[in-house]
Amino acid sequence: MRDAQPSPVRGLSRREFLAYCGSLAVLIGLGESGLPQVAAAIEQALKRPMLVWSDFQECLGCTIALLQATAPTPAQLILQQISLAYNEAAMAPAGFEAEKSFSDAFAEGTFWVIEGSVSEKIPGAISIGGKNAGDIVKEYYSKAQGVIAIGSCASFGNVQARTPNPTGAMGVRAWLRGPGGIPDATVINLPRCPGHGDDLVATLTYILVNGALPELDKAGRPLFLYGQTIHDNCERRAHFEAGEFVEVFGDEGSQKHWCLYKVGCKGPVTYAPCPINRWNGRTSWCVHVGPCTGCSEDNFWNDLTPFAEPVPNIPVPAIGGASAQTIGLGLTAVTAVGLGAHLVGQIATGRLGAGAPAEPKAPSGKVSETPKGGDS
Ligand code: SF4
Ligand code: F3S
Repeated sequence: MRDAQPSPVRGLSRREFLAYCGSLAVLIGLGESGLPQVAAAIEQALKRPMLVWSDFQECLGCTIALLQATAPTPAQLILQQISLAYNEAAMAPAGFEAEKSFSDAFAEGTFWVIEGSVSEKIPGAISIGGKNAGDIVKEYYSKAQGVIAIGSCASFGNVQARTPNPTGAMGVRAWLRGPGGIPDATVINLPRCPGHGDDLVATLTYILVNGALPELDKAGRPLFLYGQTIHDNCERRAHFEAGEFVEVFGDEGSQKHWCLYKVGCKGPVTYAPCPINRWNGRTSWCVHVGPCTGCSEDNFWNDLTPFAEPVPNIPVPAIGGASAQTIGLGLTAVTAVGLGAHLVGQIATGRLGAGAPAEPKAPSGKVSETPKGGDS
């Protein structure tokens, strides 16, 4: 039987589009009843130019991750349906024509997605069209409807910022609030290395549905996505609580999929939704095969190294779990089974995100009224 209405997303049937909207509605906290709102917001968004994507000091991994995401792909949404006015890796124009596309998009009102860090000590380490990244960020920040830093480089600087940080790599928000001279600059940070397409699509959907930016934690991350630790939702968590640890890679504990804390897993201090939306078509993720390095945390490249050593000051349960202690938030409700349902429940009841420290002032206005939200 044919769907009654056409799908607004090329390559998806109406039924598939609505199923996707339903999952997004749950992800942003509206529950399944929010499906019509999400569908209406996306259909509205598809009618107008929306995204400019800039690449600064990075490896292009976030773009690649986005383009390789799966059904319905962010590529379908962003490259085919939403007008991606500028993306150096994927667009057809080049040279002056490309630069015109860039400035024209801002004139029409666009969200600005930035991949890669700004280089403060050597501004020319990243320059586009004769302008360095800092100059571009300062010039266009106020013209964008909202600024989203995708991945750990744009969010915090990432590994190129590791001491001694020769180029002076900084996250976009830190650069704007410091050298950029805009102390209340708001940037939505979506850190992970690489950035995850689901995080971007969910954040854009949240904004379109609610007409406001999501509440952010102190690191600028949306609480609805980054409100819980890796440890809170980890599939190996039951082994942590039972005191069953991998002691050396390849040992019996490795073969039994025991907890990786003692070989360096940073999951107890890392806020990100990796166990929930995973990677590679949601089939696998870091802790499935090895320790989390904490790549969604600011300064993880300095603070959480050496990567193969345990995080200090984490109470570790005794073997058998008799003295299990809690870490993070909401652990009594978390089990190694049914984690997805747990997350959905947390979102639906508004409890997700209670544990990560929030910015002092939560954003509340409409995007059109307060274009940069309120993470000042
Ligand atoms: Fe999972 Fe790491 Fe926590 Fe162990 S320490 S339960 S592997 S997140
Ligand atoms: Fe980073 Fe998540 Fe892996 S925080 S290290 S992508 S588990």
